[in-house]
Amino acid sequence: MIVSPPRINLRRAASHNPHDRGPLSSTSSRFNFNHLVFSPPPSPGLPSLSPPLRKPWSAQPHDQYEMVAQDDVPDFPTPIVVTDRRGRAKWTVSIQPDSNFPLTPGQYSDLCAKCKEVSGRVRELRTQSHGLQQAYLSFTSSDSGDHDFIDIQEAENAVYLLSAKGRKSGKQGQEVALVGTLKTKETADQPICAKSMTFVLESTDAGIGRTLMMLWTAYGLALRENRAFFIDDTRWAYGKYTEIFKAPPVPACRPPPRHEMLPCPRQARHLIASAATASEVFDRYMTGSSDADDRSVQKTMFSLARQGYEALFELNKDDGEYVDGRIRELMAKRMMVVSPKTTKGGGGGAGLTVGVHVRRGDCHPFEYQYRDSYVPLNNYADTARDIINDRLNTRAHSFVVLASDDPMVYESDEFADASRAQERIKLANKQAIQQAQPARNVMRKYVDETFGWEGGFFAAMFWNLGVSSTSAAKALPSGSSARAYATAAAQPSSETIRLRSLVGRAYMMDLAVLAGASDVVVCTVSAVGCRLLAVMMGWDSAMQRGNWVNIDGGLQFSQLGTASQIGVAIAAFFTITVVLNVLQQVLFKNPNEPPLVFHWFPVIGSTITYGMDPPRFFKENREKYGECFTFILLGKKTTVYVGTQGNEFILNGKIRDVCAEEIYTVLTTPVFGKDVVYDCPNSKLMEQKKFMKVALTTEAFRQYVPIISDEVLSYFKRSPDFKGKSGTVNISPKMAQITIFTASHALQGKEIRDQFDESLADLYHDLDMGFSPVNFMLHWAPLPWNKRRDHAQRTVAKIYMDTIKRRRERGETGAQDIMWHLMNSEYKGGVKVPDHEIAHMMIALLMAGQHSSSSTSSWIMLRLASRPDIMEELYQEQVDALGADLPELTYEDLAKLPLNQAIVKETLRLHAPIHSIMRAVKQPMPVPGTKLVIPTSHVLLAAPGVSATDPHYFPNPELWDPHRWEKDSPNAPAISRSTAEDEDMIDYGYGLVSKGASSPYLPFGAGRHRCIGEQFANVQLQTIVAMTVRLFKFRNVDGSNKVIGTDYASLFSRPLEPAVIAWERRDSN
Ligand code: HEM
Repeated sequence: MIVSPPRINLRRAASHNPHDRGPLSSTSSRFNFNHLVFSPPPSPGLPSLSPPLRKPWSAQPHDQYEMVAQDDVPDFPTPIVVTDRRGRAKWTVSIQPDSNFPLTPGQYSDLCAKCKEVSGRVRELRTQSHGLQQAYLSFTSSDSGDHDFIDIQEAENAVYLLSAKGRKSGKQGQEVALVGTLKTKETADQPICAKSMTFVLESTDAGIGRTLMMLWTAYGLALRENRAFFIDDTRWAYGKYTEIFKAPPVPACRPPPRHEMLPCPRQARHLIASAATASEVFDRYMTGSSDADDRSVQKTMFSLARQGYEALFELNKDDGEYVDGRIRELMAKRMMVVSPKTTKGGGGGAGLTVGVHVRRGDCHPFEYQYRDSYVPLNNYADTARDIINDRLNTRAHSFVVLASDDPMVYESDEFADASRAQERIKLANKQAIQQAQPARNVMRKYVDETFGWEGGFFAAMFWNLGVSSTSAAKALPSGSSARAYATAAAQPSSETIRLRSLVGRAYMMDLAVLAGASDVVVCTVSAVGCRLLAVMMGWDSAMQRGNWVNIDGGLQFSQLGTASQIGVAIAAFFTITVVLNVLQQVLFKNPNEPPLVFHWFPVIGSTITYGMDPPRFFKENREKYGECFTFILLGKKTTVYVGTQGNEFILNGKIRDVCAEEIYTVLTTPVFGKDVVYDCPNSKLMEQKKFMKVALTTEAFRQYVPIISDEVLSYFKRSPDFKGKSGTVNISPKMAQITIFTASHALQGKEIRDQFDESLADLYHDLDMGFSPVNFMLHWAPLPWNKRRDHAQRTVAKIYMDTIKRRRERGETGAQDIMWHLMNSEYKGGVKVPDHEIAHMMIALLMAGQHSSSSTSSWIMLRLASRPDIMEELYQEQVDALGADLPELTYEDLAKLPLNQAIVKETLRLHAPIHSIMRAVKQPMPVPGTKLVIPTSHVLLAAPGVSATDPHYFPNPELWDPHRWEKDSPNAPAISRSTAEDEDMIDYGYGLVSKGASSPYLPFGAGRHRCIGEQFANVQLQTIVAMTVRLFKFRNVDGSNKVIGTDYASLFSRPLEPAVIAWERRDSN
């Protein structure tokens, strides 16, 4: 037997914390990501499969997981992976029969998250591709089911799991009494139900309404799926279910042992449902089938809930009788004889009863203008009056029946004539509470000091009901999480339970009377009670005949045309999504995950604020949340870790923990081609980097400097934009051309360079379009630019392959360029680099440097235009160091020009072209020195640019000051020696690089993915600057020292365009 892989975090070396939701978020949005559809084969950390083992097995390559023998199943609830006799991967769930049932909501939802992951992994193992997505689809759909899942009984029969009897504890599976299933002689003889659903009445939500809605819906679902239905009220905050309702109809079979009741997958024979796992249970209905429109999904949910309501909503005997009497009373009041003339249409002899439900407390309306307060009472009253006038033309014998959680509402002027729905249990009003033993009543504290109470049902008050003055000090402050309230309320006193039960009963009676006595109900849909009322009225009356009137948003669903209904549905969907998203963030913070940047909209999250200005986004959120925080980027949880520790954590992450190719491959593979860079295992990339780096030697650079100088001179000579003595020019496109001409000539030889004047420039432009950020999602789509990209890739690769062939045929020897080095390189094991890989590496080399170098050279020119004085210093530096005649530039000369070097260095500090470096997380990664663990559902993002502009290291960080790199400069960086060159070195397979990534200045990255083009880029940029300075004086067109803003719209940041500067030739006189 194999315990699920390390990312599932089962039997870890560290102790297991049952309250920890674990590294996996149940709401993981990984499945939205196209690149995960083509997910790579399982990580090396995944244990290989083997038949069920009899002995403990622990010879695993990593210590994060272990294989265990069958009699040593984990002692906490968890999915486990097994192999069947034919060696196929399957999974099941193990819950110790002697666990404390019901498990906590956290445990159930955690189990679901893990089941989803394991299901995906097992599928992945079997299909090796498209795994997660397919598995996810089958996981949530009970129709098709997850074929790899083995239900508990089969698992026990097949001895994958020891039966309850055989487990270590020796305890039998428990058959705890559920509501109405007390053991009697007859029931003891009944068989165990073939299929069941048990609803656990426990949630961190104080309100009874949401739980009730879910309970009813779950019942409807159970009925639909022929499952026996049970209710578990063991830990219900409202006490015994039968204090409020009659026991539910009891099926003619017994509930199964508790450890067989599973929250997931949906197909499990015995399902356990609760607020914590509602989304798993109802998902299919929420998302709907592809052909179901919103209304039909809504209707399905409605009818499920309605079935539950009809079967379950029976109040206890006394309350039930009271409600019946009260409804009769109100009906009689309405039935007073009225003249037929007074009614519209002349019919009927009764007034109209309008039920009004006013929920206040901590429930705030969806409607924007009231979102911080409540819908005003006169809106309810006016709507009720309009309905009466509209339908009857008179108010005679019509009246309002009112129910509210806020006692003050009953005393308001707006409802002076209204009848109270019920008077059996009344909630005390504010004055009454204050008068009643103020010193001993903790509620007062919450009423006045904490909330500035306006009245109504507050979650905090609910959890503290019945808390005595002695324990008042321990009462939780406002702002405590719902979980904290729930925990504090875990062992309520009998007085507390009595009070809560009274609240529940009052609420239920209110609803029962409103639904039973009203012709029309007016309420706000933001309150769950309002939605319950709709269900209680029935679809026909509430929706079809428009007797359910929602005034939160002002529109009546059923009174609109189809187009408007769709509009309202969409608006409602968005509103609900936003509300749920916000609630999720506020209520379900995971203390073991980095803080989540607050956002209103799911999926979109912080994408827009991040995309507009990533560096500012990082800095602002560092202020708010610290150096490590998470934000939502296109639905994906993205964890940023800035600062030197963050750089180290991400860029030096272990190969088994982080993965670059999983993120980048969708973009790079179609552009570079197959089998290179991110389309191959990391070890192969390391070898490829070594081959490429070998060509970037000092000897090679000596040859490159004259080549680059000549290219620069010839460009400025022939470019029409630089004709004459002076002029203005949009500098960025010019620098892009200079960059590609210089790089192609130096790195790929004259033959290739010459083709850039003809066809190659256009082809590389088409290739470049493949790097649009939108291609993270649409890299596969048959869009025009993708078609051009693919055509360009094939054509360019062919040009390189033909060149290779020609060179071989010529029998060439002794060349020094990169292509030649690659043609003569061998992988470990003596395999020659195939021609197509050489061609693809040639594309990669040019593309990898093009954006970074051309953006950097543009920034340099713009900076020089803003500081003509520094441009003059540069010129003078060359005159002083090389002589007034400025001889032909050599590689050695560059070392004599420190300011020229510092220009490049300082520009890269402020304008690092790669602002975000991303990695997929392959194993949960504990953040050293904190309790945080980054789960595998997150993407990691390093932003070395943040530390490069941190005043802690760089005085006056926003100042472009090339002189800061001089030792005595007041702005000299405060970089500790430990981060400088004398650090330990390491070879990842492509030559020695410094080991640490903890320097605040890392424009070329660090670790195994560190740039190999650093020295070439420096040589190239320094040569371009030196040659340009020899020829021109630059300044801003308006003479100012301003610098244009940054364009973050593409993957690499660059100057906004047009970036026009004024130039003047030095030799003009
Ligand atoms: C100013 C110019 C440049 C800058 C700022 C720059 C920056 C970077 C950075 C930050 C990385 C790390 C990416 C990551 O960790 O995900 C990187 C990787 C790389 N760069 Fe550069 N680069 C520049 C020029 C070049 C040039 C000219 C070449 C080629 C001659 C080149 C080839 C590469 C390659 C092959 C990688 C390795 C990717 C990997 O191992 O995953 N770069 N560069």
